[in-house]
Amino acid sequence: MAEITQDIGRAKYWLDRGELTAIPTETVYGLAGNALNSDALIKIFEVKNRPKFDPLIVHVKNKNEIFNYAEEIQNLQFLLAEKFWPGPLTILFKRKNCIPDLVTSGMEYVGLRCPAHPLTLNLLHVLDYPLAAPSANPFGYVSPTRPEHVNKQLGNKIPCILDGGPCEIGIESTVVKVEDDKIYILRSGGITKEELQKFGKEVILSNHSSSNPQSPGQLTRHYATFSPLKFISRDKWTDFYHKKKVVLIYFGSPSNEWPSDWKKLCLSENEDLKVAASRLFHVLREADEYNPDLILAEPLPMKGLGVAINDKLKRAQAEN
Ligand code: TXA
Ligand code: MG
Repeated sequence: MAEITQDIGRAKYWLDRGELTAIPTETVYGLAGNALNSDALIKIFEVKNRPKFDPLIVHVKNKNEIFNYAEEIQNLQFLLAEKFWPGPLTILFKRKNCIPDLVTSGMEYVGLRCPAHPLTLNLLHVLDYPLAAPSANPFGYVSPTRPEHVNKQLGNKIPCILDGGPCEIGIESTVVKVEDDKIYILRSGGITKEELQKFGKEVILSNHSSSNPQSPGQLTRHYATFSPLKFISRDKWTDFYHKKKVVLIYFGSPSNEWPSDWKKLCLSENEDLKVAASRLFHVLREADEYNPDLILAEPLPMKGLGVAINDKLKRAQAEN
């Protein structure tokens, strides 16, 4: 079983040997390995059971690292890093040759991000390489936001989990690409469209068609629970009243018309989108553990973090 520790020296010990360590970030836990070591990268794909066409984000210790791993850097790309790092924004850059093909799935662009969790930032400062880290969940399942989530699913496959407590933001980083001085959002996440718009540049949401996604990880069915999930507004929930074992995931006030024996999980009573984001993946896991016939989740307001939360819930919906 994995060693669970708060000691970055232990994480460094394993990483320096080409092994993997789960790391806390402000968004979700990552499954980290030396981004410049192909053996470590292969282990990441194996442990996650992840297809090789899905590129990995490279985590760096600060914005100056951009110059080590990227070229043809545009002013707007650098300004974004300056404004939002450390933080939940992944920026695509034209990669330098030192970045292995396995990281980018052979593509020209590499996603760089400087995470805001103090333990992981300290770790990055004592390593002499950056960390490739996808979310530390089996491919296609809900991302982990607590060390115990990682331990449960990957604990017997990796030597070390760096315990940084629950993740503050709770949903993944926003992935952006800059083209013609415009910002394209390839994946909605912890930095909202509204925040990006403050730059005065055009911001385009381009993560919603997913049969041929620009960001290859954006498959329609993703973040899936084992139990079937329907992403549908609460006024339609009456259609399912004949079902027995149901979990409701709701936002705001509950209704006393809902069947009393259904399990009810609230994302935020006060309709606080930040709270809802931080609880989302934990609530999805809790719903799944109950092993229901059906999970019903309602759409949140399409503003701020609500956009990213709805995107995750939509992808968690069983194909139908
Ligand atoms: O918050 C996060 O971003 C977390 C933490 C651990 O940093 N990481 C994460 O990684 O969510 P992952 O691998 O689960 O998701 C990365 C997403 C995928 O959808 C992937 O396709 C996209 O980013 N991505 C990464 N590199 C890319 C690239 N070079 N070009 C296009 N998309 C890229
Ligand atoms: Mg992921």
